[in-house]
Amino acid sequence: MYSDIIAEQKEKYGKRLAILGHHYQSDEIIKHTDLKGDSLELARQIEKLEADYIVFCGVHFMAESAAIVRKENQKIFIPDASAGCVMANMAPAWLVDKVLTRIINETGRKIIPLAYVNTPAAVKTVCGKHGGTVCTSANAEKMLRWAQEQGDAVLFLPDKNLAMNTANTLGIAPEKRMLLNIRSLGTQIDVKETMDKELLIWPGLCAIHQRFKMSQIEDFREKYPDCKVIVHPECPPELVEASDGAGSTSYLIKYVNEAPEGSTIVIGTETNLVNRLKDMFPEKNILPLGISFCSNMAKITEKNLAELLQNLETAAYEDVSDEIREPARLALERMLEVCK
Ligand code: 13P
Ligand code: SF4
Repeated sequence: MYSDIIAEQKEKYGKRLAILGHHYQSDEIIKHTDLKGDSLELARQIEKLEADYIVFCGVHFMAESAAIVRKENQKIFIPDASAGCVMANMAPAWLVDKVLTRIINETGRKIIPLAYVNTPAAVKTVCGKHGGTVCTSANAEKMLRWAQEQGDAVLFLPDKNLAMNTANTLGIAPEKRMLLNIRSLGTQIDVKETMDKELLIWPGLCAIHQRFKMSQIEDFREKYPDCKVIVHPECPPELVEASDGAGSTSYLIKYVNEAPEGSTIVIGTETNLVNRLKDMFPEKNILPLGISFCSNMAKITEKNLAELLQNLETAAYEDVSDEIREPARLALERMLEVCK
């Protein structure tokens, strides 16, 4: 029934409406989307869209990022605005600003903030103001290298796992990294310790990816000696190192698509995506490293999508103030420019 309402509304609005979905959305949502992708692909699409109404099926920071780069005539909606990203909430803008300002003032060093796209708009604003930028899991290496060239050190936030995994790939020495103890930054000691560091790391994480364990990889390798294990880089570094490949959700899809028939592939990421890959590639043995749903992604349902589409003209839409938008847009545009 909700499916029919969504189809009717799509018909009614035609090209004036675009529905975007992240790969972690359930199949019942994905089937209604005009575009699906990883965070980078979706961010890139916004600028190209001509639709007046853009409905973002994903978590709140994704819709908010779309609101930062939207055109004047466009309205951005999310079917449930309470669909937040737990990791994004681990780095509130006021705290990022306070920590960054304190380190810059007390060390005299030029610290470039690099925010994972999984952050509130106001954090992107802080990055824009301090000459920093944004990255996604698909371009973290490129953006970290870029940020390193802009100053004396980089503050990567909020995902410590993505930071460590990217630092490992780029060969940043462990002694040149520092996992910030945000609570004790009230003392002098931590700030002094940052002096000779190249990479300062915010201690955030994604509970959905942190849940995977080394023992799960070991068990699969024992049971299927020829299997390949691929994971999202929000997983802890030891898992990424023990895997055969790590990358964004689109990377994981591409890997499965290109794997030979009959291969066994164990995937460490959100379960909706793993289940979809299982259905898409029945000739391959696709196994979840463990069951791990993102409950926030799951807040988007056919019911709330249908209800939103029925009330598009009057529904609340995502927006950000000009004060937030301009520096945040600058931070996002730096990323889109470096990665075009
Ligand atoms: P991707 O950028 O790989 O799509 O990941 C976004 C995300 O939230 C993963 O947890
Ligand atoms: Fe955020 Fe993790 Fe959910 Fe991705 S899977 S949206 S990082 S909570």
